[in-house]
Amino acid sequence: MPPVNKDPSDGLFRTDDGPHQIDIIKATLVGAVPAERHLSALRGCFSDNAAYQAALRDGDRLVYAVQSGAADGGPGALQYGLGVIQPGRVGLEFYMTKGHQHTWRQAGEVYLALSGSGGIVLQAETGQARPEHKTDTVRPQDATGLADATDQARFVPLTAGQIIYLPGGTAHRTVNTGTEPFVYLGVYPADAGHDYDATAASNFALAVLAGADGPVATSRADYLAALSTSGNSAAADTLGELHD
Ligand code: F6R
Ligand code: ZN
Repeated sequence: MPPVNKDPSDGLFRTDDGPHQIDIIKATLVGAVPAERHLSALRGCFSDNAAYQAALRDGDRLVYAVQSGAADGGPGALQYGLGVIQPGRVGLEFYMTKGHQHTWRQAGEVYLALSGSGGIVLQAETGQARPEHKTDTVRPQDATGLADATDQARFVPLTAGQIIYLPGGTAHRTVNTGTEPFVYLGVYPADAGHDYDATAASNFALAVLAGADGPVATSRADYLAALSTSGNSAAADTLGELHD
């Protein structure tokens, strides 16, 4: 293993030379310390508040972990994060990351799905879901060009081996829609920064939900409306209302 220099000031795993190593079986970056996000860190992300409170009472479960790595930087430097989202749901909504914009808005990112099945919610700055994206009919190749578009949000399903490029200005949140951990690598400019406030107030405009025939990405506003009228988080009732 290459010599490890763990810089405690930024939490990044660094090596002075040689390749960093992902343990594919354990889905870990060898030598790195994971930043863990438990349910309590995702307050305000899941729309079914009753289900969220019940899940918290049941134990503050691990939702995802990220191990980040970098080499010595300078202008143009890149860094990366190995993300592992556990399988699970809060109400109908699949486990997911908090999601963010890059503080330096021009900073793009490349995601590579390594194992499991999930996807990524992409959203332009203004964050409104277009009606035609209420359901999950989006093909990965449609996901480019977001930087030119406003009022767009879409869900791009990803399975192992698929790569997606996120243009600058695209808010992104990763979701595990499967029954195994969803593992992916994101590579981005070291100067990108993470702006969580940009999406925290209004949340992402699409919610990725367990439907009768598999995952569906649906308008969060519709999901919230269905939750408030159905009075519970029963899958059949809620999705029935959303898709009637
Ligand atoms: C880095 C990036 C990923 C995420 C990771 C966790 O720019 O997009 O490495 O940081 O998926 O998600 P957040 O940062 O939203 O908690
Ligand atoms: Zn990012």
